[in-house]
Amino acid sequence: MKPALSKTGAQMSNLTGVRAIMKDINETLRANQGQELYNLSAGNPLILPEVEQLWRDCTADLLASSEYGEVVCRYGSSQGYAPFISVMVKDFNQRYGLNLTERNILVTAGSQTIYFYAANAFGGYNNDGDLKQIVLPLSPDYTGYGGVSLCPEALVAYKPTLDIDSANHRFKYRPDFTQLSITEATGCVIFSRPCNPTGNVLTNEEVEKIAALAAPFHVPVLIDSAYAPPFPALNFTEMTPVFGENILHCMSLSKAGLPGERIGIAIGDEKLLQALESFQTNAGIHSSRYGQAIAARAIESGALANIAETVIRPFYQQKFDVLEGTLEAAMPKNIPWFLHRGEGAIFGWLWLEDLPMTDWEFYQELKKVGVIVVPGSSFFPGLKEEWEHKHQCLRISLTGSDEEITIGMQRLAQVAEQVYQRAAVSV
Ligand SMILES: Cc1ncc(COP(=O)(O)O)c(C=O)c1O
Repeated sequence: MKPALSKTGAQMSNLTGVRAIMKDINETLRANQGQELYNLSAGNPLILPEVEQLWRDCTADLLASSEYGEVVCRYGSSQGYAPFISVMVKDFNQRYGLNLTERNILVTAGSQTIYFYAANAFGGYNNDGDLKQIVLPLSPDYTGYGGVSLCPEALVAYKPTLDIDSANHRFKYRPDFTQLSITEATGCVIFSRPCNPTGNVLTNEEVEKIAALAAPFHVPVLIDSAYAPPFPALNFTEMTPVFGENILHCMSLSKAGLPGERIGIAIGDEKLLQALESFQTNAGIHSSRYGQAIAARAIESGALANIAETVIRPFYQQKFDVLEGTLEAAMPKNIPWFLHRGEGAIFGWLWLEDLPMTDWEFYQELKKVGVIVVPGSSFFPGLKEEWEHKHQCLRISLTGSDEEITIGMQRLAQVAEQVYQRAAVSV
């Protein structure tokens, strides 16, 4: 039966951004079973043995405790599991010298839902019929923001400026403060730091400037810290979280090894969190209490922050080194390729300037030699204007083995050389 969908139903059942590409990738993987494929498309973190062991140990501890029944056999508060919230308050107050209370924390079913709640609680049409925008201050950014608003016209992204280091084939995005507009028409601001897909880390000054632009209009700024310290600590450059009256510091335990448990954490002003908590009550009641109970153990003992710094971060940083080293050795020097500075997250972001075909066509060429990456154009949600750069980038996952990354990048270099050469000959 084909259901008659409402406008919202039709819109929400659309596969946005990378999900649409994933469908093509999964079909390719299925059609090429038995063939050697270098799949560098995944956003799913790897299972690192030390991390898995930590969660096993915390589970064993929970199982042996009298708390177990209370955790899994009962509903709880929409705000989150109280012992987990207490541990978070204590950890953050100690670590960052804050004065948080239990009311400054909201635990959600994964951090994706924080953005969904916020986009619709703060963005969209208000009672006066005015459209409140959801502003993404630096595009490209996380593709998942593309589907969060029930009112898609509310999403507005801004083109960045580019710091280009031509001699070394490197570049870095920066927010373009000459264009960025945050006004009374803004409902909220969202960005990821470190950024999926680029690995960019906005500086503290840039973050503070964005928050200061939003403050006079009481606009909440959600800093998506899914890859940030203290856990999973997937920053390869020095960075400290920024807190402030209008900042919601949003965390995820997914990249710290618990994506299946769906734990997102928003830290900030009590009144902002209350609006989101009501959304959560209506949508799904609360996040997994089992996940929160084992996470409370791992955070309270310091084991999670420790494993993030000593296992998770070095693992992906070494993968980035392999990616960078291979591209340096294999990419032709005479084509304008630029790797985004690897400041964090689990991806490399490659810009092929003047690419003589679209990123989607280049992705198809790569598939022919058994290499799968994600075409970059999926990572510009909310950017309405045409910009050729959108079709010149690729996201390369660091979840491959060293061999997969090395061979994948060598083949990519060959394909790039051929593609640019063919175009030069035909001119
Ligand atoms: C930047 C960023 N934000 C949010 C999420 C959503 O994570 P989760 O809902 O698992 O916490 C992801 C997942 O990949 C991400 O990369």
